[in-house]
Amino acid sequence: MQELTQRLTGAFGISGYEDEVRAVIREEIAGLVDELHIDAMGNLVTLRRGTGGGRRVMLAAHMDEIGAMVTYIDEQGFMRFAPVGGLYPSICLGQQVQFADGTVGSIGLDGRADRNQAPKLTDLFIDVGAGARGEVKQKPGDPAVFRQRFAAQGNAWFAPNMDDRIGCVVLIQLLRELKGKDIAHDIYGVFTTQEEVGLRGAMTSAYAVNPDVAIALDVTLTGDTPHATPAMEVYMGHGTAIKVQDAGMIGHVGLNRLLVAAAEASQVLYQMEVLTGGSTDARAMQVAREGVPASAVSVPSRYVHSPSQIVDRRDVEASVALLRSLLRGPIQL
Ligand code: CO
Ligand code: ZN
Repeated sequence: MQELTQRLTGAFGISGYEDEVRAVIREEIAGLVDELHIDAMGNLVTLRRGTGGGRRVMLAAHMDEIGAMVTYIDEQGFMRFAPVGGLYPSICLGQQVQFADGTVGSIGLDGRADRNQAPKLTDLFIDVGAGARGEVKQKPGDPAVFRQRFAAQGNAWFAPNMDDRIGCVVLIQLLRELKGKDIAHDIYGVFTTQEEVGLRGAMTSAYAVNPDVAIALDVTLTGDTPHATPAMEVYMGHGTAIKVQDAGMIGHVGLNRLLVAAAEASQVLYQMEVLTGGSTDARAMQVAREGVPASAVSVPSRYVHSPSQIVDRRDVEASVALLRSLLRGPIQL
């Protein structure tokens, strides 16, 4: 699983440009699913057919990550940029970014800005080391992501895009572990696009899949760093997290009850998650068509939407184990 995580976190995949991530996933799930297609939004929609008598279960993990998009290039070749998804200026300063073609840039601060204050996004620029605009290959509209690479240290895994490559890892690993096993349910594993800019891929794929039950696989914040604000009872290394509520949805009570029972039946370490900001693909799936019972299974991650996200390998494993346990039994809501 570590190798898979390293591979997926190394792929370029800002919202709207998920092609490279999708290509890696296609390779990794070859032989694990019965059907596979790519829809108009770029979602990779897969089906692992069940033995019958089960439900249509949609599991969604988003392929895209946040980043920056060039808006303006000055005569010296410094590029101003707009956010793609939740890109926080205080986290950007001093970071390296990378464009789709591999071009590396450093993020610098406009000299007119106050260095002792948190910068605004408009105070920042990307510097690719050029001396003039003519030396810059980039054009307005070109997207870039944080450049940091994957690292493993004890149980901790570091990468700039654990949100949500680790959800993709959970889904792929689940399909690996279900191989050859009798499962009644039809499992629609959907690798979605454009989550970070408004859950757009999940919206259209949930309409097409028309699931009986839907679960998003994503990251959540933690309350275990110094004076974490807001205080939150989700801790890295303390297991997978079952979504009670976030800013976009309330997890389906019956489905959550089943998830808790599945965790307890298989002795999977879990936590109940209440997140006060942000949401996941579960929100879009929940309100698809006439409504779908939905929740999310989250991997606790420190420093989400920064180049230095950390997850705990054991929480990733617990997330896979929880889903495996759920899918083994009947899903009666
Ligand atoms: Co995110
Ligand atoms: Zn996410």
